[in-house]
Amino acid sequence: MKKLLSIVMAGALMFSMTACTGSADSATESAAEPAVQEAEQTAAGGDLVVGFAQIGQESGWRDAETNSIKETATELGVDLKFSDAQQKQENQIKAIRTFIEQGVDVIGIAPVVETGWETVFKEAKDAGIPIVLVDRGADVSDDLYATFIGSDFIEEGKNACIEMARLLDGKGDVVELQGTVGASAATERMEGFAQELANHPDMKIIASQTGDFTRAKGKEVMESFLKSYTDIKGVYAHNDDMALGAIEAIKDAGLKPGEDIKIVSVDGVGDIFQAMVDGEANVTVECNPLLGPQFFDVCQKLKDGQEVEKWVKSDESVYRQETAAEDIKTRVY
Ligand code: AHR
Repeated sequence: MKKLLSIVMAGALMFSMTACTGSADSATESAAEPAVQEAEQTAAGGDLVVGFAQIGQESGWRDAETNSIKETATELGVDLKFSDAQQKQENQIKAIRTFIEQGVDVIGIAPVVETGWETVFKEAKDAGIPIVLVDRGADVSDDLYATFIGSDFIEEGKNACIEMARLLDGKGDVVELQGTVGASAATERMEGFAQELANHPDMKIIASQTGDFTRAKGKEVMESFLKSYTDIKGVYAHNDDMALGAIEAIKDAGLKPGEDIKIVSVDGVGDIFQAMVDGEANVTVECNPLLGPQFFDVCQKLKDGQEVEKWVKSDESVYRQETAAEDIKTRVY
């Protein structure tokens, strides 16, 4: 059974690597109720029932993660109950309570923010349902979740700063576009950048504001930075979508992104590779969204009562403009 599962997992990984596409800037902010829906899938084989509480559709990266989860579930025949919280924590909490009532085997969640999860995670624990944190962390005690699958956001922030220092020869004013306030991806990417910045005394962050991980808000915030500051040398964006919004704002202001103002962001989505090929962005620090295969592998192990690592870390790289024309050919999200 285990051997069969690993064969299927390998197939799912191949499928996920070739089938995922990211569509940018598709934030939905209207409806308040989370839609807990059955992912399209056939019930062939698996008896694993999993609930997944997704944040929403803030970025191309998140769309790629959602696709990876849904496609892998379909491939494996997992009964997936998927909820889109439309960027609201209360909707993710409601979804978890629904999953508990439905008696799923495992609950996966990408927590929109880090705090405020103790009560509902405890309810899941009391019901005997393990929680798996996917891509973002939660500020709860270790016994309230089984594992975290995702990236080292502090490392990503440090790498972004190293790249910015290289591009600016270690000096100049940088503006920062933060992700969602209170999200681990934002807090830690900010922290990692700040830690490394201490090694570059002539480079400084002159303004830092949230763009909520969306392209539209990234553009809006960059427009206001450009009105307030005349000597911006670099933009550090916590994700590619905000960087792509900033690029539009810089062009509208009559400047050349990638030249007059260097652009460093995180994720590695297709659109930022295209921007690098076009000379309008400089570096993307990869953050892997194709977590479906690892997620369901962990879910099956938890259902089978096996031990899982507390942090299943993603393996990631840094991509520069210089090699983007080659790199873009092999990108899958
Ligand atoms: O949690 C990961 C972050 O969330 C990605 O960098 C970002 O694009 C997303 O929406």
